[in-house]
Amino acid sequence: MAKVRILSYPDIKLKRVGKKVNVVDDEIKKIIADMFETHYATENCAALAATQLDFVDPPAITVIDFSEEKNKPLCFINPEIIHSEGEQTEYEGCMSVYPDHIHEKVKRAERVTVKALNEKGEAIEFVAEGYMAKCLQHEIDHLNGLTYLDRLSPLKRERIVEKIRRLRK
Ligand code: NI
Repeated sequence: MAKVRILSYPDIKLKRVGKKVNVVDDEIKKIIADMFETHYATENCAALAATQLDFVDPPAITVIDFSEEKNKPLCFINPEIIHSEGEQTEYEGCMSVYPDHIHEKVKRAERVTVKALNEKGEAIEFVAEGYMAKCLQHEIDHLNGLTYLDRLSPLKRERIVEKIRRLRK
């Protein structure tokens, strides 16, 4: 296993779309293992999407574990939201967007149903609400080339982009 570099906004690679996985073969299993290793080696990390890591041609995979003991790993391959309802507006941060300094409230669905493959390649449907639902929507956005900044009003986004310019100096 190997730790992989987490891309940092405004890296153009964050706009990549995750490649659909057809077969969960050894290559995909290795990528998943590397993603978990990177996740657990990164402080305050709740989840990672393959497209925010410095992979060549990243697949559509996200790994999630925000349990205190770091013992509830979840892996979603080709995740897709097939149902959403309700509304929540909570603070989000992102490992690719200055996680120690920048958080902003983002409007999301309160409940989602996600269709995906698990790490064994089995088709699953996963129902989530609250924090887990927020997390899945954030990660699926990454796999579509979006960060949470893309979900903000132009005014809020400009304010954050300005803050990032100052941090980068
Ligand atoms: Ni993120």
